[in-house]
Amino acid sequence: MKSLDIHKGKVLILDFGSQYTQLIARRVRELRVYCEIVPFFIPLEEIEHLHPSGLILSGGPASVYNPKAPSCPKELFALNIPVLGICYGMQLMAHLLGGKVVPSPMREYGRTQLIIADGQDLFQGLGVEALTVWMSHGDTVVELPDHFQTIAHTENCPTAAMRSVDGRLFGLQFHPEVVHTQNGTQIIKNFLFQVCHCSPLWNMQSFIEYSVKKIRSEMGKAQVLCALSGGVDSTVAAALLQRAIGSRSRCIFVDNGLLRAGEAQRVLETFKDNFTGELIFRDTAERFLEKLNGVIDPEEKRKVIGREFISVFEEEADRLGAIEYLVQGTLYPDVIESISYKGPSATIKSHHNVGGLPEAMELKLLEPLRELFKDEVRELGKELGLPARVLERHPFPGPGLAVRITGEITPERLDTLRQADAIFLEELHQSGLYDQVWQAFAILLPIKTVGVMGDERTYENVVALRAVTSLDGMTADWAKLPHTFLEKTSNRIINEIKGVNRVVYDISSKPPSTIEWE
Ligand code: XMP
Repeated sequence: MKSLDIHKGKVLILDFGSQYTQLIARRVRELRVYCEIVPFFIPLEEIEHLHPSGLILSGGPASVYNPKAPSCPKELFALNIPVLGICYGMQLMAHLLGGKVVPSPMREYGRTQLIIADGQDLFQGLGVEALTVWMSHGDTVVELPDHFQTIAHTENCPTAAMRSVDGRLFGLQFHPEVVHTQNGTQIIKNFLFQVCHCSPLWNMQSFIEYSVKKIRSEMGKAQVLCALSGGVDSTVAAALLQRAIGSRSRCIFVDNGLLRAGEAQRVLETFKDNFTGELIFRDTAERFLEKLNGVIDPEEKRKVIGREFISVFEEEADRLGAIEYLVQGTLYPDVIESISYKGPSATIKSHHNVGGLPEAMELKLLEPLRELFKDEVRELGKELGLPARVLERHPFPGPGLAVRITGEITPERLDTLRQADAIFLEELHQSGLYDQVWQAFAILLPIKTVGVMGDERTYENVVALRAVTSLDGMTADWAKLPHTFLEKTSNRIINEIKGVNRVVYDISSKPPSTIEWE
């Protein structure tokens, strides 16, 4: 298939294990340039084959003089492609091209003043000669390679930015991708547009045109099954498939008995309002709960649910006949995790590969959103005409309430959790706080505690409330919800739900905790 414009002028980000690699990709995409993260050991021939307009070498935790440090061939810098090395990326560039990198006598972490010596190319149009930048390094370039010049310094770092005299290779000791770096986006923008001469072609309208053509040409006459979960990703994926192949894409909604209160009804209504054709609805609650009977271990719960989902999808595919593909709303962060060479994200999310599909599945997988970040998916959904009410919904995990009941899952415990969760969400909507948090939900704990109601001693369940703020779910902070709000929500939960006598609020961030409890 002919390469389509949105991918023309793409940038490759070589991942050396920095916690900020994804953030670099987001910044580049925000500037409407398509980019991909690739492992640092990508072969040179593959880079050439991909025809990137520019390369960015990410930061990373290693030291270049460690023999086991991740590296790349020196010839990478001779490909005649502009390169920007960030932090470790800059040190590696200096090291491989004959400069010298040593441990700094003064490590620099956090905000630092950068003094710019040369305001051309990367530092063009900043309008200032000093910037506050975000540093995080223990090593420093002390000798430049031949044909390089220093273009900025800080108090403790004589070369905080460098360029090759031909203006093709650049190194920054600081992190332009983090918000704490003043004018960081402008610096990345300068690299993309002044140095690499990229065009800002990546937008969701052109993504739709590209995907529709690609799906049509790759799928031929194949029929697909779109599994709706009620969440943003699967709804947007289904809308895209419908746009591309119309009625050859059938939607199915499986009620596994692990949904929030009123969720099945909401999915049916959303479908009726936004899709054409028929929604296949399967009520399989009993079957899932039976399989989960006595299962306590979180990983086991996920596996049981994944297996059961697939067996329902395959039954339906058999019943319908001729279904070849199952559509899944996999997003780019999940893809990155599977290729990431190391870094915190790789281990944090390893436990949920988007619902835990078993490998033995007969249906082929179609993942039309695998190049997109969550915010891009929301923008895409908007372009496809889906309402904000659907697009602004909080993420909800594939295994549903099963991973929000620690311990045994029973119909009674599910019922208790559903009621608590519904009260929490209702209060969030009513107070206008819902849109201010990334995700909010209730968890039912496996312990009972003593309380007093009226004059009676009680010995009942504990509900935990969790609300977090986040950009992409990879890291998160607990939401500082007002005390009056928490007080009202707690009172309602204890007064209205039989069997709950205590509510606690989770004040842990991710890392070291995760968003979900299981
Ligand atoms: P954690 O708990 O790892 O979650 O901090 C990060 C984000 O991922 C969601 N999540 C899942 N989504 N299947 C999914 O589709 C899963 O198995 C799963 N587990 C967690 C979670 O809700 C949060 O938004």
